[in-house]
Amino acid sequence: MILSIESSCDDSSLALTSIDDATLIYHIKLSQDEEHSTYGGIVPEIASRLHAQRLPEILKKLKVFLNNDLSAIKAIAVTTRPGLSVTLIEGLMMAKALCLGLQVPLICVNHLKGHIYSLCIRNATSDSQSTLSKPLSLPQPLGILLVSGGHTQILQMHNFNTISLVAQSLDDSFGESFDKVAKYLGLGYPGGPLIESYAKEFIQNYPHITSHSFPVPLLHNQKLQFSFSGLKNAVRLAIEALSQPLSPKDLGSICAGFQQSACEHIVRKVRLYFQNPQTQDLADFAIVGGASANTYLRTALSELCAEYKKQLHLAELAFCADNAAMIGAVAIEHYKRQDFTPIDEAQISPKSLPSDFL
Ligand code: KG4
Ligand code: ZN
Repeated sequence: MILSIESSCDDSSLALTSIDDATLIYHIKLSQDEEHSTYGGIVPEIASRLHAQRLPEILKKLKVFLNNDLSAIKAIAVTTRPGLSVTLIEGLMMAKALCLGLQVPLICVNHLKGHIYSLCIRNATSDSQSTLSKPLSLPQPLGILLVSGGHTQILQMHNFNTISLVAQSLDDSFGESFDKVAKYLGLGYPGGPLIESYAKEFIQNYPHITSHSFPVPLLHNQKLQFSFSGLKNAVRLAIEALSQPLSPKDLGSICAGFQQSACEHIVRKVRLYFQNPQTQDLADFAIVGGASANTYLRTALSELCAEYKKQLHLAELAFCADNAAMIGAVAIEHYKRQDFTPIDEAQISPKSLPSDFL
């Protein structure tokens, strides 16, 4: 089995994945949402200190699970990029120590590739039969929308080592814009699930009232690119123009209107991607990343996929946000290729390497 470590942002997580059949044997994750919530975003120094405390705590639990016998671990995998330097380093230090202690090789994993491989996590830790039927490998070529706190990208995967970047955000990411709007509204962190639930409540409580309306970003721009900072600022101005504190109805209306414009922007750009002559033969499309948990976005994109006859692939909701199980799923592919990094050469990087995405 492979022990994988994730600490690129605010989740400390470890997993064990079987090398034989890629099933997830064990998974543990401690999030730091509460600690960062009062700041309305992640404070890197706090995140780093919490990883330093929590990674050893969860390693202890993993050892108990294995009855203190780590001999079945054949490699250690760790996220080394992209992410926050001060948190990535905590995971890498633990990985190096484990490699030296167990005399096993090190696998350095790109976190974004991890999100892509969240699609094939075969979860033997749950009762869910459906996850055990997950594919051992991904359909290829595969179009991918990656929506997280740090990235909004369309990627096209041709094979394990060839993933091209088709489109990205010019400024903020999709998830980040939810976090910022939640901060303006004083809702806490992470903003995505909070905004989504206030929007849902508004739509349920006021089915006949239209929500606040915000411009859809880059509406008349035919380029494959994203932008969220203009929308974010339009929402900020709308909040400032309302009488404070906001009524529950205004709060819900802002959340619903913002979510609608942000998702409409994504759907329009994915439609452009599907209309591209080079993409017309593409049969498979996936949405991954923490923000792919958004139901409104999932529904809108599944309708679009049905229209363009694309098979839509989604990760299990529990594995959309950062986790070590997805790092284990990528690590299996690296292991098959004997793609190891010498311990003294392994480094963290806040950005992806030029060779990661073409
Ligand atoms: O992938 P992830 O866990 O971390 C990064 O790699 O960045 O994504 C976290 C991001 C946060 O910005 C969070 O607000 C957003 O995903 N997110 C959502 C939802 N759930 C999480 N955004 C919109 N709607 C959601 N339901
Ligand atoms: Zn992530």
